[in-house]
Amino acid sequence: MHPQIFPTYQDLSSHVAQKVFFRIEQHLRDKNHMVLGLATGKTPIGLYAHLLALFETRPDLNLSGLVAFNLDEYYPIPPTAPHSYHSEMQRMFFGPLQEINPSFRAEQQTHIPHGDTPDIKKECRRYEEAIHRHGSIDLQILGIGTNGHIGFNEPGSDDTTRTRLVDLAPETIQINADKFFHGDTNQVPRQAISMGVGTILEATEIFLLASGSSKRAILQDLRERNEPTPHNPASYLLRHPHVRWFVDDEAWGEYKERK
Ligand code: F6R
Repeated sequence: MHPQIFPTYQDLSSHVAQKVFFRIEQHLRDKNHMVLGLATGKTPIGLYAHLLALFETRPDLNLSGLVAFNLDEYYPIPPTAPHSYHSEMQRMFFGPLQEINPSFRAEQQTHIPHGDTPDIKKECRRYEEAIHRHGSIDLQILGIGTNGHIGFNEPGSDDTTRTRLVDLAPETIQINADKFFHGDTNQVPRQAISMGVGTILEATEIFLLASGSSKRAILQDLRERNEPTPHNPASYLLRHPHVRWFVDDEAWGEYKERK
């Protein structure tokens, strides 16, 4: 594990945005198609803001071939609920992107599991099939939970897991309550539909972002680990041939010159 370490969250976000933007341009130019895997949570907020600024500089880009799949959605939750990941992505990225560049049509080109599905098994199958219909995810953006979760693959999830209904770990419920629900755990859904670790590992390239001192202990665990373990689901990424780790100084605990 050789992360790129940045002095601040802003530096990390702007650097990763440039890399993601470059990949999008490149894929659209070469094959008129780019499948992006996206995450929610606090960490990618800066990335999305910087990406929007980059899209503003290139109104000529035809984004009709850009397709996005989000990692997860709470369950049960209607897409229109203010705290759904549908609403969050629409507010934070998809809506503004469509305004900047109308060749991007969020409704047709973005995918997030339906947290109000009446048939979970069918919805999970539909989601996996939709990804496969687009080939595979070219670039997956990930955050990491303090317990090592990626997507909502909580400890205990191994690399055979696919899109499915998962129970959120108690600490995930508490952390998300503090971050997004004014500390009220009763408002946080107890379950989510999440891509599996196996689904995530099929992405051609993966960028994992970690910011802040709360991520230090789980990154330390990854630094010391050679073999993947379901106790820290992010450890399966150590086997992926094209994963890049982007961390800030607070998350890593020391600053090294950028490579
Ligand atoms: C979000 C997701 C989660 C978050 C993780 C970190 O779609 O899948 O794995 O990436 O919980 O969250 P933040 O960024 O809020 O620290």
